[in-house]
Amino acid sequence: MAVKLLALAGSAREGSLNKRLARAAALSAEAAGANVTFVDLNDYAMPLYHGDLEAKEGVPEASRGLRKLLRETDGLLIASPEYNGFVTPLLVNTFDWLSRKDGEESGLDLFKGKYGVLMSASPGPLGGIRSLAAARQFITTLGVTLLPDQLAVSKAHEAFDEEGRLKEEGQRSRLDGMTQRLVTTLSALEHS
Ligand SMILES: Cc1cc2nc3c(=O)[nH]c(=O)nc-3n(C[C@H](O)[C@H](O)[C@H](O)COP(=O)(O)O)c2cc1C
Repeated sequence: MAVKLLALAGSAREGSLNKRLARAAALSAEAAGANVTFVDLNDYAMPLYHGDLEAKEGVPEASRGLRKLLRETDGLLIASPEYNGFVTPLLVNTFDWLSRKDGEESGLDLFKGKYGVLMSASPGPLGGIRSLAAARQFITTLGVTLLPDQLAVSKAHEAFDEEGRLKEEGQRSRLDGMTQRLVTTLSALEHS
């Protein structure tokens, strides 16, 4: 069976460069044989995590749709902007809610056993690379095994062609290498 992946960006902005990168990664993973669902976090808007809100109302309804997608996926393609050298509040908040218990269902069990790759895109010269270590730390803590490969796309406002692919050959082959390794790893695990 084809490997199932979720592609998502840590930005809800309509013109988000990281959504473009997540979509480019989805195309690349599809070419490697995966079945990819692109998730726009705009469609799963959640309030800022607050313990009292959770105690009163439980997890937000919007998180349940995402939980279902996560339950059914094998791996993650995550592209997130860098905000002041760190991961975006949107990505942290989304994963914080997902990590919480919903009735009898553990949130952390949803992440356990998943594999993924990390990317960032920025109009700046470093491509958001400083945020990737922080992203790696918190997502690994959730139980996701992240491959060592990562990609930071600098000058991202100029980086994509009209079909949404990375223009620069070096970046494109790096992205293809990452998605190929993720698909190969997950296929090997499925058959082990
Ligand atoms: C609060 C804030 C902090 C930012 N800090 C950084 C930064 O540390 N490094 C960087 O490369 N870009 C930084 N940026 C610029 C973002 O990379 C840029 O807005 C990018 O387009 C956001 O990603 P998106 O296009 O996916 O929404 C920052 C933007 C905001 C709003």
